[in-house]
Amino acid sequence: MFYRPKDGHGLPHNPFNAIIAPRPIGWISTRDADGINNLAPYSFFNGVAYTPPQVMFATTSAKPDQDGGKDSIANIEATGVFCVNVVAYAHQDAMNASSEGLAKHIDEFDHAGLAPVECETINCPRVEGAPAALECKLTRIVTLPGEANRVVFGEVTGVHLQDDHIRDGKFDVTSFQPLARLGYRDYAVVRELFSLNRPDD
Ligand SMILES: Cc1cc2nc3c(=O)[nH]c(=O)nc-3n(C[C@H](O)[C@H](O)[C@H](O)COP(=O)(O)O)c2cc1C
Repeated sequence: MFYRPKDGHGLPHNPFNAIIAPRPIGWISTRDADGINNLAPYSFFNGVAYTPPQVMFATTSAKPDQDGGKDSIANIEATGVFCVNVVAYAHQDAMNASSEGLAKHIDEFDHAGLAPVECETINCPRVEGAPAALECKLTRIVTLPGEANRVVFGEVTGVHLQDDHIRDGKFDVTSFQPLARLGYRDYAVVRELFSLNRPDD
């Protein structure tokens, strides 16, 4: 089949997210100007540069209690910082609970039964027990076509790795099994790896 998005796909559900899959999940923690912590998953998320290390996530649509966006981007605009937590398989229910569209003054760490830990380089919470976390300073926000579509870029200023997951000098993802987002209501979990050398290696 072929379709032009402006004409519709004709399927019962939009296949777009199933095409761009699997996607890593950036579990974004922030703090608002009044000190209330916030946590939400974003799967339009990725790393975009090594030196200095930089990441991005994209926010789509607006909450009724925010001015044209969601809580995460509103907090980042106010404070200039955010933290990206990695989602282990064991955290799937807490991650899902933190995605609920709650009023902006509700702390999703409490709502999802998670403990916040202070970041080292920024005034921001991170998720206790997350296998890794990236402390980030906002570098720019890019507005995209459409309603409330924006991309947040940040430079990584601090990296947390749980020591249990460092094996033979490598960050061993099989020891915590990261969740990835697919289309529809589907997820994948990384349990098996294989390696390929590059032609130039
Ligand atoms: C696995 C998962 C991935 C998500 N990815 C995104 C995303 O990339 N962009 C987005 O705007 N919303 C995404 N959402 C929805 C947000 O998590 C949800 O709107 C949340 O309430 C936003 O919280 P906030 O207002 O505290 O930022 C995702 C939800 C789930 C469960």
